[in-house]
This record gives sequence, structure tokens and C-alpha cells, in this order.
Amino acid sequence: DTNKFQALISHAKEYGFIFPSSEIYDGLGAVYDYGQWGSELKKNIKDYWWKSMTQMYENIVGIDAAIFMHPTTWKASGHVDNFSDPMIDNKDSNKRYRVDHLIEAKADDLEKGGHADQAEVLLKEMDTLLAASDFDGLKRLIETYKISCSVSGTSNWTDVRQFNLMFSTQMGSVSDEANEIYLRPETAQGIFVNFLNVQKTGRMKIPFGIAQIGKAFRNEIVARQFIFRMREFEQMEMQFFIRPGTQKEWYEYWKEERMKWHLSLGIPAERYRFHDHVKLAHYADAACDIEYNFPIGFKEVEGIHSRTDFDLRNHQEYSKKKMQYFDSEINQNYIPYVIETSIGVDRTVMMVMSEAYEEQDLSTAEKKDSRVLLKLPAKLAPVKLAILPLVKKDGLPDIARAIMDECKPHFRCFYEEKDTIGKRYRRMDAIGTPFCVTVDHQTKEDNTVTIRYRDTMQQERVNISELKNIVMQQLS
Ligand code: GAP
Repeated sequence: DTNKFQALISHAKEYGFIFPSSEIYDGLGAVYDYGQWGSELKKNIKDYWWKSMTQMYENIVGIDAAIFMHPTTWKASGHVDNFSDPMIDNKDSNKRYRVDHLIEAKADDLEKGGHADQAEVLLKEMDTLLAASDFDGLKRLIETYKISCSVSGTSNWTDVRQFNLMFSTQMGSVSDEANEIYLRPETAQGIFVNFLNVQKTGRMKIPFGIAQIGKAFRNEIVARQFIFRMREFEQMEMQFFIRPGTQKEWYEYWKEERMKWHLSLGIPAERYRFHDHVKLAHYADAACDIEYNFPIGFKEVEGIHSRTDFDLRNHQEYSKKKMQYFDSEINQNYIPYVIETSIGVDRTVMMVMSEAYEEQDLSTAEKKDSRVLLKLPAKLAPVKLAILPLVKKDGLPDIARAIMDECKPHFRCFYEEKDTIGKRYRRMDAIGTPFCVTVDHQTKEDNTVTIRYRDTMQQERVNISELKNIVMQQLS
């Protein structure tokens, strides 16, 4: 549903959620800024994940590692040698494509054209060739299916080549190769290199986890899907350290736990599916994605990976520091195995907004009317309570201000006295505010206000003293 997708992108910009980066200079490819309401929504998502993954599991603690890491980290992790995608260039337009994206786009076209069976065959062939790193085969596949460049329209392709996705920069004043460092392409390595620091200082016993939220950077080639694929983005990752041999059970455990988390956002189960990886990343022995049905189709929001002892073992080898854990229960030293859960903050923002976005026709026989609303869960909504004096006189703003002062230490409130009450409600619907209260002349008589619920638009009178609790109840 590309119309809904475009409408969502416009809405996100119009209402201060997401702007293209450096927009006055026409933007920067696949980089975005979060505005006044987007940053609140994003922060609420991060806080909710953090609480769910640290506070609620007694054996998981959080850290906050630096973006810059010693360059050997990325040798040991395999990113220098393996974190690359097969690319192909069109000789006429000089446009570069990720081979899998190019082929997937063709499969989409085939499917739309009523050739779903052909699309499936194409994707299967691609998976097999990718898994075998058969670059010549991939080029032949592109030629066989006559895949052309959307810019030049020709099928004049170069050979398929590998292209590393890491950004690099120089540390210190001298720009030579020795000072080259990378911007981390995943937050996970900050956890691996600190594994022993946390285990020892926190006296952690296996099984235990380390969680982290932070920026990651990838020089993505095809990046045209709004905040779905960005060059600078944020991840929320958790590495769960376990006894070797128990990875299958823990992998299944975390698949289930993470799906429960998604459902706790109020999103129905049928909007999700698991997708098992055929082509495993260089570090994994089992991996799957949790996919959400975006307006652009089912796509990955989160990855769950059984990473074996790949990372810790390599860090031990490269750093010459022991990465072992002494398991007193079985009286053995070992390098722990790891199950990882890794979810993109920005993709979660996009998921939550897609799910919440609704255009409603409210027309009656007498009058045409409509509204756009974001049915965000109250705990994620940027503003929880709007406080609106019906008119700008008769002492109503003073009462509204007093409610504001009482509530704002507890949750995000928004005060507004401009425009008709109907227009103010609509603006609050558009940013997903679950509750609006209106202070009117009756308030002066009996201390009651009208509370209006976003989704039903129903209104009821409640005492001012009840307001705080009504909102707080919805936030846990
Ligand atoms: N540490 C494992 C790891 O990084 P990944 O599947 O490459 O695994 C995990 O990434 C999650 O990070 C993805 O499920 C996605 O939500 C998010 N992500 C990855 N690349 C992204 C990008 N270019 N833009 C936005 N989010 C991205």
C-alpha cells in the first residue's frame, strides 16, 4: 500500500515526527532527524525496551559503550572481511545496486504482474547463489531475468563485487591508514569486549545478559525506504551468555520472549511473522527475523541470532586476553555461547507509527468530516494529556494552568488555548495524544472537566482530582 506509506511519511513530517536530515540543503541520503514529537516517541520506545529488558529480567544488566572502538575489534568480529554485500553497477547510469535488492525488486514486479510462482523461483535461486557466494551465478540470474536499471533502462551490468558497509574515519591529527577507525556497524561488539568487565564487577552468573541501546552506522547502498534502511540508525541489542550446548533451548526461549514484547505493544499477532534465515550471517549457527507487515509489506524489525562463541573466541584470539568463564556448577571453564536479540529503534518507530496511523471518515448526512489519528499506545504517545481551556477568558486559562502544573511533573502534558476546541482535538489526534481535557464554565462551579478519549472520541465529566490517576493507569 504505497499510498498509505507516502501518507505516513508526509504525516511524520507535517506533525514534527521525522524530517530529512539537513533539509535546507536538500537532505542527506538515508539520514533523518527526529522532531519534537518523533524524539519523544523514540525515547518512549527506548525506555520501554530498556525497562522490559533490564528491570524485568533480574539477570540482565545494561551498558553504554562508545561508538568508536579499537580497529582490531572489527578484524576479530569478521566485519572487515565479511561485512559486505554483493553489488553491481549499471555501466550506463553508473548507479550501484545491492544485488539482492535488485533481484527482490524484480520478484516484486513479477508478483504484482500475477507471476507469484516465478517470483518464488527467482528468490529461491537468489538465496542459493548468495549462500554459495556465487557471484558469476548472480550476474547470470540478473541477465536471465533481463533485470534492467530503473535510471538508464538498460541491462548493461558490470561484474558482481563485494562492497564493505562500514564507515571509516581518522582518529587523531594524522590522516594515514594506521589511524583509521570505523564507526560501529552494530552495537553488539561493545558488549562482547566488555563481557568480562561486566561479568566480574557485576558478579554475574551464567546464564545472564547484557543490554545496550545506541547508534550504529552502515553505508547502505539502496536506502530509499524512509527510516526503514538508514545510514545512521539506532539499535537495541541484548547478548545473552549461556553454557555451550544449550543454545537451541535459549534461542527458542528468546524468540518467544521477544514476540511477547511485540504483542505487548498492542499490535495483533497476525501483523507479525518469523522468517528463518537461509543464508546465515558470518557469525551465526541459527537466525531468524521477526517481521512486521509494514505498508510496504512484511519486513524485518528484529533479528534473533544464535552467535555461538564466535565473537568471544575471536576476541580472545586477537586480544590474547582470556574470555573464559568458570562455571562452578559444573566445575568447568569455557567460552560462553551467545543468543542475541537485536531490534532497530527506527524500524520500531516506523512499525508503531504504521500500526497507529488511521484516516477516518466522520461524515454525517449534514456535514463532511474526517480526521487522521495515531492510535499509539498511551505509554508510547509523545504527549499523554492535552489541557485545553474552552475559551481564553473568564478565568478558564488559570484553572487549566493549575492542572498543567499539577500533572506535568508526572507525564508529558501539552497546553493550548488557540483555535476552536474541535481543531485542537484534531491536532492532538494527529500526534497520538490519548487524552484531552477541556476546562469550561462548569469547571468553575463543580471542579469537573471534560475528558475526551482519542480513539472513541467519547467524552465524560470527571473531577480534576481524578485526572492524574486516569492517565497514570494507562502508562504502565
Ligand atoms: N548485531 C546483529 C545485527 O546488527 P542486523 O540484522 O544486521 O543484526 C539488527 O541488525 C536490526 O537493526 C535489524 O533487525 C533492524 O531493525 C536494524 N537495522 C539494521 N540495519 C539498519 C538500517 N540500515 N537502518 C535501520 N535499521 C537497521
